[in-house]
Amino acid sequence: MKQIQIAENTWKIGSNLGNEELFEGIWPTPDGVSVNSYFIREEKSVLIDIVKKDSGFIDEYEEELNAVGASLKTIDYLIVNHMEPDHTGALLQLTRFNPEVRIFCTKKSVPMLKAFYGIEKNVTAVSDGETLDLGNGRVLTFLETPNIHWPETMMTYDSKNQILFSCDAFGSFKALPEGKTFDDEMTGQEMNEFQAETLRYYSNIVSTFTPFVINGLKKLEALKVKIIAPSHGMVWRKNPQTIVSWYQKLCDFAVRGGRRITVIWSSMYGNTEAMLKTVTDTLNETGIPYSVYRIPDEPKLSYILADCWRSEGIILGMPTYEYRMFPPMAHVIDLLDRSHIKNRLAFRFGSFGWSGGAQKQLDELTAKLNWTFLNPVEFQGAPKEEDKAKAAAEIREMANRINAGRGNDSPLKDGAVF
Ligand code: FEO
Repeated sequence: MKQIQIAENTWKIGSNLGNEELFEGIWPTPDGVSVNSYFIREEKSVLIDIVKKDSGFIDEYEEELNAVGASLKTIDYLIVNHMEPDHTGALLQLTRFNPEVRIFCTKKSVPMLKAFYGIEKNVTAVSDGETLDLGNGRVLTFLETPNIHWPETMMTYDSKNQILFSCDAFGSFKALPEGKTFDDEMTGQEMNEFQAETLRYYSNIVSTFTPFVINGLKKLEALKVKIIAPSHGMVWRKNPQTIVSWYQKLCDFAVRGGRRITVIWSSMYGNTEAMLKTVTDTLNETGIPYSVYRIPDEPKLSYILADCWRSEGIILGMPTYEYRMFPPMAHVIDLLDRSHIKNRLAFRFGSFGWSGGAQKQLDELTAKLNWTFLNPVEFQGAPKEEDKAKAAAEIREMANRINAGRGNDSPLKDGAVF
């Protein structure tokens, strides 16, 4: 990838990772993901964050730095905003190349540097608000932003150029399109694709920490920011407020989701499935947007989380399996719990063979999520017409409750995801 100048004496370098590996070993990235680093050259040369191991780091970075008359060997400072190995995995490669590089990170990162990489030398712990003078009037300020994404995380702010190097915050999945880096270079379709991948990124890896994101957004209100330069996704130089507003909306979804319903269903012998047409026919009548997922489907779990995050309503089709929940649904509920998908309106339908039990376990597992359940519709064997009529009535009630009180919702622009 070509090095890109984002401001005077400031370049974005880094890697577009492909779709071969799962992000964090779990989340699919069919459109890849960018891992951005930033290079600043004043009297001191600084690298802000790096990339994971085995991503061609040394050769690629050296080539990009050479193109602007620099080298990894002459980097004075490395700023580690976040310890997760997608931003630090190549640290030992860097320190072998440049043993004298001085590392700046939060206090919480210091033992992690030792544990992950055995690095103790040339490490300086910084506190919130501390600064680093690079010369030529360029001063960086460190802002602790714990739990966006790990407890040790910080951001780095360049007050001269008003650039916020935000690391994971304001990031997304999806590699940068060929030859494009900035928000003003993206087509409308690319922007919508990035918005979808911002939702999936947020719901998969960030949503658990939403209270910290809200704190972080408040903290940043006091800063003048012209450019947001995250470590994943595009650089925002024309409308940085767009990505801030996306994150604000994503935080809002923690309260009740959006005007949307996600249907997740599973079936053993087709009896629970026999209710599905009633569900989708009724949803079509209501006009509320919805998505439907059949499980088990491991690669789709990432998308189920994303849709549940933006949905106020969740409909579960699940048979009872040996007196309890169907196991793949128990797995989904566990993921929804980990992602803190709370305060939803929920409805379940499902078949049983000789005894129910799934609903009881579902009620127990979701109690701490504060879900409000409509009356479940359970049936022995295949659903009868009266079961279908009951399910349709419950779904209409869900739609009415979702529509209530949403008079101020503005309609989504064409293709917008949330
Ligand atoms: Fe991009 Fe939390 O790592």
